[in-house]
Amino acid sequence: MKKVGFIGWRGMVGSVLMDRMREENDFNLIESYFYSTSKGGELAPVVPNGSPKILSAMNISELLGMDIIVTCQGGEFTSEMHPLLRNEGWKGFWVDAASTLRMKDSSVIVLDPVNRHIVEQSIRNGVKDFVGGNCTVSLMLIALHGLFKEGLIEWISSMTYQAASGAGAKNMLELLAQMEAVGKTFSKSPSLGALEMEKEVNHFIRQDEFPKSNFGHPLALNLLPWIDSEMPNGQSKEEWKAQVEANKILQTSQVIPIDGTCVRVGALRCHSQALTIKLKKSVDLNTIESLIAGANNWVKLVPNNKLETLSKLTPSAISGKLEIPIGRVRKMSLGDEYLNAFTCGDQLLWGAAEPLRCVLRNLLD
Ligand code: HSE
Repeated sequence: MKKVGFIGWRGMVGSVLMDRMREENDFNLIESYFYSTSKGGELAPVVPNGSPKILSAMNISELLGMDIIVTCQGGEFTSEMHPLLRNEGWKGFWVDAASTLRMKDSSVIVLDPVNRHIVEQSIRNGVKDFVGGNCTVSLMLIALHGLFKEGLIEWISSMTYQAASGAGAKNMLELLAQMEAVGKTFSKSPSLGALEMEKEVNHFIRQDEFPKSNFGHPLALNLLPWIDSEMPNGQSKEEWKAQVEANKILQTSQVIPIDGTCVRVGALRCHSQALTIKLKKSVDLNTIESLIAGANNWVKLVPNNKLETLSKLTPSAISGKLEIPIGRVRKMSLGDEYLNAFTCGDQLLWGAAEPLRCVLRNLLD
């Protein structure tokens, strides 16, 4: 049995990964070792073939014996420990949720439903670093897999509606705290009309005391049209990732341009995206729909009607689910080669944990 070390398994992505591994009985196939940057020596979670004590994630000698290291600990840990291990001559597989190694030539970005063949070939070719992609990129590629496979896409403009979870667990809780603060403060003002109420509420959420130490701004009753750092070309880093990561995942021979505006909204754990897709040629809508619907086991085509859209294509409808619905699929009035679509996906499942779980299974095979 392969020895697999887990780091960052208590965090949000790590916890979702642990749950999925329990559901799929993955622990039966490995010897598990749980590491922590701070809690070495404490009791480890009980899993089949698991080591009883938590080991120190900062102790190189305790990591060197692993065949596979799976980390959801974050970029700082990767930046510090990955080079140390490799410099020590460690030849194991490094499976990582953080973005640090994603764009390195030595790494492959994993997204099982879309690039499993590339992952498998890379393992045979001796690649050792496997990294999960950015969540919006992964969710978009699973949704549009059928059109990519057919080589139909000339370019995409993606406008995102990203949940608080993408910014971290503290941010999710902060969004709820913001909502609670508004609810508590204004629950007893029924006599005010809508316009007066809006004025007071807006004043309230802009005050310094409003809970916003993580986002820095109100997200409740608001949206934030900037995610991650600034790039020199005016994109946010989140926007920059769409094209570079998608093309790396697909290993395209010619770059497919992908760009848009990434926006944080008040959903909790599901990212949504409105897509404008320029097709390379005119294709009838029935063909497009069947290509999209049949591409992989996870994409679910939602017919373009109001009832099904509003019941099946929303963050609340798909939270906690592995399926990736895509709907609002229609030709745009811009021209016959312009396709409209909207997709939604659980940011912590296919957006983060599930691609790591799948590559771990590949590595065991
Ligand atoms: N960067 C994403 C976000 C999450 O902020 O929503 C991780 O891919």
